Amino acid sequence: MLTTIAQVGQHLGEEVTIGCWLYNKRSSGKIQFLQLRDGSGFIQGVVVKAEAGEETWEAASQLTQESSLYIKGIVRADERAPSGYELTVTGIEIIQIAQDYPISLKEHGVDFLMDHRHLWLRTPRQRAIMSIRSEIIRAAHEYFYQHDFYKVDPPILTPTSAEGTTELFHTKYFDEDAYLSQSGQLYLEAAAMALGRVYSFGPTFRAEKSKTRRHLIEFWMIEPEMAFVEHEENLRIQEQFVTHIVQSVLKNRRLELQTLERDTSKLEKVTAPFPRITYDEAIRLLQEQGHEIKWGEDFGAPDETAIAEKFDKPVFITHYPTEIKAFYMKPDPNRPEVVLCADLIAPEGYGEIIGGSQRIDDPVLMEQRFQQHGLSKEAYQWYLDLRKYGTVPHSGFGLGLERTVAWICGLDHVRETIPFPRMLYRLYP
Ligand code: 4AD
Ligand code: MG
Repeated sequence: MLTTIAQVGQHLGEEVTIGCWLYNKRSSGKIQFLQLRDGSGFIQGVVVKAEAGEETWEAASQLTQESSLYIKGIVRADERAPSGYELTVTGIEIIQIAQDYPISLKEHGVDFLMDHRHLWLRTPRQRAIMSIRSEIIRAAHEYFYQHDFYKVDPPILTPTSAEGTTELFHTKYFDEDAYLSQSGQLYLEAAAMALGRVYSFGPTFRAEKSKTRRHLIEFWMIEPEMAFVEHEENLRIQEQFVTHIVQSVLKNRRLELQTLERDTSKLEKVTAPFPRITYDEAIRLLQEQGHEIKWGEDFGAPDETAIAEKFDKPVFITHYPTEIKAFYMKPDPNRPEVVLCADLIAPEGYGEIIGGSQRIDDPVLMEQRFQQHGLSKEAYQWYLDLRKYGTVPHSGFGLGLERTVAWICGLDHVRETIPFPRMLYRLYP
């Protein structure tokens, strides 16, 4: 039976067989050191000419980068190895000798690597990122199930927009027009009225013509929506949720964070509660620092970074002007020119990772907003029904997975945070 590199510790001193690929190889005449990977981890296989036998030695000699094989060996503890183990090789069964693997161990340019994304994924760095992405997803589901949320799946093909019409991704739906979902939120609000606390996790699409290191055309969002939850509680849930994610990665992905040379002391500090400042305070702070920004304008990336630099935890910016936020956000009853919303800005210049708000629950105000935003009443009738039939205060938020991965992994571009990034000028591979 096969074992995996991640599991070799359970077989100390035993002979095991692992299906794997050769990542790299060194030889010193009488010994060959094979760097092997199987997806679960990396391990060194040591082939000693005098002990392994002629056939195994020959097979090891033939192995090229990314050749596939079954390796048989005895598991030894080795303190110097990152995984803590090493294999004394006793047998090799070659599956395929890979010829002319295009990605060598030297540095390549980004365009070359993006064209070879299907192979680039195999490197230790990309594997570490993908495994941390997976841990973030696992921890997110864990948090919501522990807190009695139901997972709900909103549609991806939608007849209308959820976040403004400028970035809609258009497609035909037989004879009708349809758009790929920008956010599941509106449907989640309906689900929250049926199930109380719900969340979704799925792909969302924005035809944004922005070529920045924070924007993807297709990205994944985690969106909770909660009946009877108001602004303050919404923020408390967000800080607990983000803390749970960061602490889970620290606990379960130490080795991968090390591979990425991530400064984990910065992540250790991420514990609830998070600091909060209002939009007004943020504007004042930026103006004091000489930023060209006026009340009523939205923040750009440099503004967000300047605010984040004041804190060593993620920071909530609350109460944005009603004018610049989405149509569904509830105005502050004491100050209707601002809304009960918050963006969560990650530390170290990673920008906004969460957008959230309390939602309008008054049907009359909701109808006014449809008019102000030029939204057809027919198309949104079902959404208005949620306010007509047993309306309740409710809130929710959306966490952008890729920006969260970029922050936790310490990456300078979101293109490495998703297996196959869809970007402004890239649909391949
Ligand atoms: O702030 P946004 O637009 O909020 C919503 O869509 C709400 N309907 C969510 C809700 O309340 N249920 O997007 C939420 C998050 C952002 O904070 C950001 O992290 C991420 O989604 N995001 C993007 N990530 C990568 N590429 C893009 N083009 C993104 N646009 C938003
Ligand atoms: Mg936003």
